[in-house]
Amino acid sequence: MNLKDLFIDFFVSKGHKQIPSAPVVPENDPSVLFNTAGMQPLIPYLMGQTHPYGTRLCDYQKCIRTNDLDNIGDTYHHTFFEMLGNWSLGDYFKKEAINWSFEFLTKVLNIPVERLAVTVFKGNDKIPFDKESHDIWLSLGINEKRIARTEKDNFWIAGETGPCGPDTEMFYFRSDDEIPDVFDPEDERWVEIWNDVFMQYYKDENGNITELPKKNVDTGMGLERVTAVLEGVKDNYESSVWKDIIKEIEDISSISYKDNPESMRIIADHIRTSVFISADYSGIKPSNVGQGYILRRLIRRAIRHAKKLGIDINSNWEERVALKIINQYENYYNELKENKNIVLEVLKNEKIKFNRTLEKGLREFEKVSNKDIDGITAFHLFDTYGFPIELTEELASERGIKVDIEGFKNKFKEHQELSRTASQGQFKGGLGGHSEKETMYHTATHLLNAALKQTVSKDVHQKGSNITEERMRFDFSCDHKLTDEEKKNTEDLVNKWISEGHEVKIEEMKKEEAINSGAECMFIEKYPDIVTVYSIGDFSRELCGGPHVKNTNELPHFKIVKEEASSAGVRRIKAILEEK
Ligand code: ALA
Repeated sequence: MNLKDLFIDFFVSKGHKQIPSAPVVPENDPSVLFNTAGMQPLIPYLMGQTHPYGTRLCDYQKCIRTNDLDNIGDTYHHTFFEMLGNWSLGDYFKKEAINWSFEFLTKVLNIPVERLAVTVFKGNDKIPFDKESHDIWLSLGINEKRIARTEKDNFWIAGETGPCGPDTEMFYFRSDDEIPDVFDPEDERWVEIWNDVFMQYYKDENGNITELPKKNVDTGMGLERVTAVLEGVKDNYESSVWKDIIKEIEDISSISYKDNPESMRIIADHIRTSVFISADYSGIKPSNVGQGYILRRLIRRAIRHAKKLGIDINSNWEERVALKIINQYENYYNELKENKNIVLEVLKNEKIKFNRTLEKGLREFEKVSNKDIDGITAFHLFDTYGFPIELTEELASERGIKVDIEGFKNKFKEHQELSRTASQGQFKGGLGGHSEKETMYHTATHLLNAALKQTVSKDVHQKGSNITEERMRFDFSCDHKLTDEEKKNTEDLVNKWISEGHEVKIEEMKKEEAINSGAECMFIEKYPDIVTVYSIGDFSRELCGGPHVKNTNELPHFKIVKEEASSAGVRRIKAILEEK
């Protein structure tokens, strides 16, 4: 039987009701992105509300902690983990809680008492020493020398405010060395395995601590860690939790775990967390904000490490890893069964999206990484190539160069402001409604503007433009009527660019930067401080509100139908895009 079942059975036998795991995205708590502890969904009940299942509860809760996302790759960090917990909502308190913890550890898990040690709350000027817990441990046969008193580590609160209280933590001696008589919680051979929190206080924004209406117990045992400890492996990823998943990655890559444990752990961890996020009933999809951004980062980082292992990214590797994970957990989490197809689709779509730009992005990174990376470059990698900033940082640190994160954040903020302004409709491009055809004409206008500079004169500048579904009209500065040859060369050049299939790139930057970078624009004062610059190949770069096609090859054949005078020194071209 596995640890989850043993735990639940034990607490059910002590009068607890098993409650279902809450979604990983908290339902009524916008202050956190994900549930980080078993107690989080229970906060209203710890504060006094009546729980429909009664006063003794137990569960296994899906938790996600992303603050140490970049530490994943070592032997013991995970972004997702399962927390086993039992609760008393104003029911039993320290005596029962500690007795049951001890019974479960020594009788169910059969851990020898001499391998156990505990910490208890030492006391401070506000809250006294937790003599009660200390004495209970003593009565159970834990030696005084194995009961350490600490202050900071024995007061538990999720974040800054909320229900909280002193706790007592249990440790297991993991090493084969002789067990020292005196327990030192700083000695890494002792691993924390369980935490009983005596949640009797509430801390407000001003740091005031008041008594809760009821005294509660909140406990938490990290399943991954305890499984590894019980199975006697020092690397969590070698335990039964990960065995099948790692094995699958070994099979896919034909590489042994020992040869690149770091990338394998990252893939295993990140795909597992992505599976749980995308299966969650909250319906999170990869995006550039909030939980969606975490999901995107996880999938993209996993892909990058799959590449490191030489896995063929276009194969169904991510599906194989995900199915292993779903298979392992679906009997405990219904949503994995129900949303299996959604999960596979999310992973695949994000993979395709990232793949499309990854190669180009890595090439771009190679180009810019001969020195420290400034904020604009980092933002360009993010915006154009879909590189999460953390990926740029990771690649940079592999090369021993720095990234200007502050600069990136500023750019990011400007970008958000621009999107907001754009979505409020305060700044629109030259066009009103943007049908597909108008969008094509808009891009054709940029091509024509650029072509005239090459075929007629570099002094050609746009003086006006007008677009309908049927045609484009383009006014430009020019001192003569175009010759037939000039018209033909212009037409041919535009068509050449169309058939060459140039990507239309979009960047956001400060207005001055845009002008300094040589971007063409008509009425500079018309634009906001942050502007969008569209560029095509190395021949066109214009300040513009868009919209544009993504690639010039979306345009049909370009044809000039008329060239005439508009006003003094200004000529006018009418042109059409002919369906092929
Ligand atoms: N809420 C406590 C913890 O997360 C049990 O450690």
